[in-house]
Amino acid sequence: TTIPKYVTDLVIPPVMPPARPAREDGADTYVIGVRQFSQQVLPPTLPSTTVWGYGSLEDERTFSFPSFTIEARVDRPVRVTWVNDLVDDQGRFRPHLLAVDPTLHWANPPGGRAGRDSQPTFTTTPDPYTGPVPIVTHLHGGHSTEESDGYPEAWYLPRANDIPSGFATAGSFHDAFREKSARERGVAWEPGTAIHRYANDRRAATLWFHDHTLGMSRLNVYAGLVGFYLLRGGECDLPKGVLPGPAPALGDPPGTRYHEIPLVIQDRSFNPDGSLFYPASREFFDGFTGPYTPTTDVPPIWNPEFFAGTMVVNGRTWPKLEAEPRRYRLRLLNGCDARFLILKIADSPTARPARSAVPFWQIGNEGGLLPAPVRRERLLLANAERADVIVDFTGIPEGTELFLVNEGADQPFGRGEPGVDFPVADPATTGQVMKFVVGPSAGRDRSVPPDRLRLPGTRPLGSASVTRRLALGEVASTRPQVPLDTPVLDLLGTVDSAGNPVQLRWADPVTENPRLNATEIWELHNFTVDAHPIHIHQVQFEVVNRQPFNGSPVPPETWERGSTDTVIAYAGEITRVKARFDLPGRFVWHCHILEHEDNEMMRPLQVGGTRM
Ligand code: C2O
Ligand code: CU
Repeated sequence: TTIPKYVTDLVIPPVMPPARPAREDGADTYVIGVRQFSQQVLPPTLPSTTVWGYGSLEDERTFSFPSFTIEARVDRPVRVTWVNDLVDDQGRFRPHLLAVDPTLHWANPPGGRAGRDSQPTFTTTPDPYTGPVPIVTHLHGGHSTEESDGYPEAWYLPRANDIPSGFATAGSFHDAFREKSARERGVAWEPGTAIHRYANDRRAATLWFHDHTLGMSRLNVYAGLVGFYLLRGGECDLPKGVLPGPAPALGDPPGTRYHEIPLVIQDRSFNPDGSLFYPASREFFDGFTGPYTPTTDVPPIWNPEFFAGTMVVNGRTWPKLEAEPRRYRLRLLNGCDARFLILKIADSPTARPARSAVPFWQIGNEGGLLPAPVRRERLLLANAERADVIVDFTGIPEGTELFLVNEGADQPFGRGEPGVDFPVADPATTGQVMKFVVGPSAGRDRSVPPDRLRLPGTRPLGSASVTRRLALGEVASTRPQVPLDTPVLDLLGTVDSAGNPVQLRWADPVTENPRLNATEIWELHNFTVDAHPIHIHQVQFEVVNRQPFNGSPVPPETWERGSTDTVIAYAGEITRVKARFDLPGRFVWHCHILEHEDNEMMRPLQVGGTRM
């Protein structure tokens, strides 16, 4: 069956309702669960899809994929009790919707706890894990203390009545963190929950939250665990009325029109019965069928990347939006597991190369508003990257159709021109994202035209006291009988004095250990053949420059000025970033291609005194 496009109206996630009482311990409070439910992701003529999503435990109707949006204000803390509610009506745990690979270094409840004692278990049966599902939520771009950051080994199982005995019900870091959280928040901790507090003490920005469980984030996020967290206010936001608004608020009358729209774009595939498809074996990628033996280091289920076949925006395939002839503020997020997006607004859905009909005026990135608006015909968005853009439909005749198209193809990203240096996404499927149909005007647009917008400035970091040389590298199989000549794994690591990569794995001792309040330059030497989006927790960093291995430094792109939390490190280049580490404790840095992150392309980051 082909899936018809542009039948479903775009859904704009409403605001997440607070808990009762809505304010406690000096913070806005939420109790947010993770549940399984069914949602009409495909058009209504096709079956519905079983997904996972977040929702307020106060109100059944708030469970949705993507999550309702958390609206936060600068300097007003938020406290979320994150509940693993993946249980059925009888209180029994719900197994995963997708195939969990138990041979990776992952949360591993039956094997006890992930950590140095549970290295990838090559002797484990290659059957997918079907036990209770660990989760842990990370606020991406947040400035969170360690116990609130969603460390990959701070996962926890649901409180179900049939957890097999001998299972670890939480990762080792969960115990340490939960005591501290509960004590500091003055609340009782309950099994199956984590209490995270977000200070919101940085600039207004488009943040998002998602699952971060060790070795299975790709599956938990693919199943639906994503949501926006919009931080507003403070000196670095603009006063009301300057930018297009409003955004959805609680209690809006039905039929309210919104001019500020967050859009999470994700590729997803579906089985004929409407269920989510994600590869359940390595055969999908490279034909590896085993037999699986302890002498191979090719994981039997995990795939190095997965590029799905449809485009889902805010939880619906190829939606449409009836737009007014006015300005809109779109907060775009690449929520794909592996696909880099190259977006344009074109008048033809299929002409390639796509011709930009309406430019994006980018006003913000991951770290908040840019120093000045940047006009862009196309937006390259790597995984986890956000772009805050104004699109101006003013003066466009009623009935005009415009298409948000994508040229980011089903393959790892290199660099260069779509259609010239690499193929473009299939114009019939993942090459299309959503449609805007310009309708009648419904009122005057009082927002400032983007070319006349004055944005608040950004404050640069001081000079750095330490420069670290870090590596992105690839390793081939260590067991030559594996029928592959492709690299097995991408890894992070350090660079030795001869300039060669030192490949390190998750369980290797901490090497990134900045002193508290240190400002450091991190040089990301990419020895692989692909671009990787690198994300560092806790910080919003500055992009200093990029330098080809045999070339001179190139300044950052205009849309990378200010600060960001995720940067594209291109193959064969050194990408330099500068960050100040002002929260002590244990965090992570990693590639945000979720398949890479789940299989060792992630390293601990310890600020200040070393834990373990
Ligand atoms: Cu968006 Cu470490 O994650
Ligand atoms: Cu990567």
